[in-house]
Amino acid sequence: AASHIGIIGMGVMGKSLALNFAEKGVPVSVYNRFVEGKEEYVASQFAEENTEFPLLKGFDDLEGFLSSLQSPKKILLMIPAGAAVDQQIAQLESSLQEGDILIDGGNSFYEDSNRRVKALEEKGLHFVAMGVSGGEEGARRGPSLMPSGSREAFDILAPYLQKIAAKDAHANPCVEYIGPAGSGHFIKMVHNSIEYAEMQALAEIYQLMKYGLKLTYPEISKVLKNWANEGLRSYLLEITADILLVRDGREYLLDMVLDKAGQKGTGSWSLTTALNFQVPYSPLSEAVTARMLSSNKSNRVELAEYYGHRFGAFAEDKVILIEKLKNAYALTRFINHEVGFDLMKTVSEKEGWNLNLSEIARIWTNGCIIRSTMMEQLVGIFKDNTSIFTTKSLKSKIKEMKLDLTYIVGLGLQHSHALPVMSAAANYFLSRITTDSPANLIQAQRDYFGAHTYQRKDDPSGAFFHSDWKASVPHPS
Ligand code: 6PG
Repeated sequence: AASHIGIIGMGVMGKSLALNFAEKGVPVSVYNRFVEGKEEYVASQFAEENTEFPLLKGFDDLEGFLSSLQSPKKILLMIPAGAAVDQQIAQLESSLQEGDILIDGGNSFYEDSNRRVKALEEKGLHFVAMGVSGGEEGARRGPSLMPSGSREAFDILAPYLQKIAAKDAHANPCVEYIGPAGSGHFIKMVHNSIEYAEMQALAEIYQLMKYGLKLTYPEISKVLKNWANEGLRSYLLEITADILLVRDGREYLLDMVLDKAGQKGTGSWSLTTALNFQVPYSPLSEAVTARMLSSNKSNRVELAEYYGHRFGAFAEDKVILIEKLKNAYALTRFINHEVGFDLMKTVSEKEGWNLNLSEIARIWTNGCIIRSTMMEQLVGIFKDNTSIFTTKSLKSKIKEMKLDLTYIVGLGLQHSHALPVMSAAANYFLSRITTDSPANLIQAQRDYFGAHTYQRKDDPSGAFFHSDWKASVPHPS
């Protein structure tokens, strides 16, 4: 019998999704290119290794793969983002017929996806740009899926995607049509920049607890587990609590891991997108910057020696500080999410995508890397609000946590702890809630040196003025 779905690309994600489909009763064909000496018989071997999944068929030749698929063909690309996707599309195009569906499940840049959706629609083919989150385990057991592009194609795919997706707390699948064009890849990119900031915030908490509070790894792990039980549960918090307990002989494995963070693109793309749309993004952007700073280890070692850098320990009561850290961390997380959702809101308005923020939060409550109890709260919050900061039920808690965030950032900086995300979060929040910003001075400076003009507080018409600042400086008498 013909397969209902075809998957191209047998990396960990492609393989895991294939097994997930087969397990859920969907006949699936898989194909991997044949590269002599490097990638040989990958797909057929994979099928042979998994004979307990009779619905799985492996092909090392593209023609065999294509003719094994039911019409309209539904082909999921799980290959590296970038040129490889365009090459694969070009190779497939001539063998496809009107109405066939190509799905890109990689971490593609959404502007590429915008272009591909349009180009293929013009040729009568459907293109679905789909964010996939959850890593290997998620792909195998239930990922969060963010499909966009052809609505018609989504309707055909929905029953299949719903079968393999994670389920939310109400047993609804963590998949929904996101919007037109590459909006699914766009929100996956934002998801990843929130992921970066959530990871960096935990790294900062770990640093403060290790060097500032002098806690052992099991002690830190215990505090994090307590936080999870006190409303701060998240997948990333839980894996961090696990990581802190893993030993490598007499040492902790974490202490053996080189402190140079890698990144593959999605985090940085969010920043350029935020800049393009003029959306303030500092807390999330700092998480990307922190990875870049970390990767220049040899220079850090030199400068640390040169300046005699040492983390200072805190003299304050540990129990009180841990409570403040918890609030500082919780508010940082709210701010990180506010920033990411604000970018989605703005881009949705400008592109006319009509993104449903509450629904996006819902499909991120399970399966994906940033799933958390906070995300569950956001489902309700974005039903009635467009901003976390104006959510009435959070107001008094945010006010209280703000005191602890600013306290912890101040304390940390005074003790030589770099806190890029937490301090940027504090700055972002304070900047958002300040009536009289010092931007009057920026405007005056612009007008002084460049006659860029400025508006006046005492002129509600919004007219622009220019002053001859230089000539108006009073001369000393
Ligand atoms: C996910 C992850 C996954 C991956 C990203 C980030 O949602 O499952 O976001 O897609 O972790 O590619 O990877 P880097 O940290 O290497 O940029």
